[in-house]
Amino acid sequence: MKISGVDVRELKKEYGTPLYIYDAAMLKNNMRLYINNFKSNQFETEVLFASKAFNVKEMVRIVDQEGLSLDCVSVGEFYTALNVGYDPKKVYFHGNNKSPDELRFIIMNNVGTIVVDNLMELVALDMITKELKKNVNIIIRLNVGVSAHTHKFIVTAHVDSKFVVAYNSVVYNTMLEVINKSEYINFLGFHSHIGSQIFDLKAFDAALEKLITYCKDFDKPLVLNIGGGFGVHYTDEDQPIPFDVVSKNLIETCENALAKSNVKIKKLCIEPGRSIVGEAGYTLYTIGFTKKTPNKEYYFIDGGMTDNIRPALYQAKYDCDIIDKENDKKDHTVTIAGKCCESGDLIIEDYKLPEANPGDLLITYTTGAYGYSMSSNYNKALTPAVVFVEDGKSKLVVRRMTLDELIEREE
Ligand code: LLP
Repeated sequence: MKISGVDVRELKKEYGTPLYIYDAAMLKNNMRLYINNFKSNQFETEVLFASKAFNVKEMVRIVDQEGLSLDCVSVGEFYTALNVGYDPKKVYFHGNNKSPDELRFIIMNNVGTIVVDNLMELVALDMITKELKKNVNIIIRLNVGVSAHTHKFIVTAHVDSKFVVAYNSVVYNTMLEVINKSEYINFLGFHSHIGSQIFDLKAFDAALEKLITYCKDFDKPLVLNIGGGFGVHYTDEDQPIPFDVVSKNLIETCENALAKSNVKIKKLCIEPGRSIVGEAGYTLYTIGFTKKTPNKEYYFIDGGMTDNIRPALYQAKYDCDIIDKENDKKDHTVTIAGKCCESGDLIIEDYKLPEANPGDLLITYTTGAYGYSMSSNYNKALTPAVVFVEDGKSKLVVRRMTLDELIEREE
């Protein structure tokens, strides 16, 4: 099997397994689908990459080259961006519990916009901006009363979410008072993120229409950020909507809702994470032993929940293949298990594959989002390497962790 012209067997030889492989051409193409289609002649538009899905230096460089802005949720993600010379003005900084030190750090490093999650944060921010005598742009993360996950969405608010502020609540109105009195805080608009792995565009339409109604309270045109959450294909149960269609649809919904309500906005933003990196990522493993129990057959791989926690955490489903046996008869029903001392360390359960031999390579698809970024060193596993492939060439982007690196911070 080749990815962007590179044979995965060659990648195994050069970099070992487990290995995260990204098709850099697909990454760029996904970004372009958003950038080129998320455009309006009535308001400005901005596409952010939600970097929690996959934040490493090379990824930020590509985001930069392709002209996307960046959503960061931690100083770690922000620092990575600064480190490769990414313009901090293009960063939207999220988080429900940003510490005073973190706020100082990002402000001193000229963060573009802070997405404020709660009243206490706003009060802290007001004090810090006075202390530093620095202006900051903010948008407020609101509960629009739409919460969506995968195929379902509900229009009753998740009132107890750890994120967000409810529109027109006492807290919300107090926040507007703090903003009005503040010398350094520049209120730009609103943010809403309704969930992840969503396929029903009507959920985004509902959220966007809500945000637009809130704009009526303000004289100036606001910035609206509708978040991310656009679904991708993990297995055939998922039927994602192409990202150009998603983009055009959001613009159209926005333009129609603006016309209907006679409101003007300054800018519309989206911040997809998973849909930019998900399907561009693969994980390559080597199969070791296999085992038959009375009711099951296992293929053991040299990685597992330490490089992909999503099956254990969310019962996430993946497709896979054995390299060079893609077209062989799939007459074994097997469970792909990792090597952690944990019964739940199963990557794929009851899946049809051909017979495997030790040394065969197994590839899992759509592991580009929240795989590497949620990886762990449980059982003191070494974080795998990451390679980008494009036009028949591979590039090492993250070196595999060494045993010495694993213990270097320990006294
Ligand atoms: N914006 C905000 C404010 C978010 O909270 C998120 C994701 C995104 C954008 C990007 O959403 P995406 O386009 O990637 O769906 N670890 C979980 C996903 C957690 C998502 C949290 N927020 C997983 O592996 O499925």
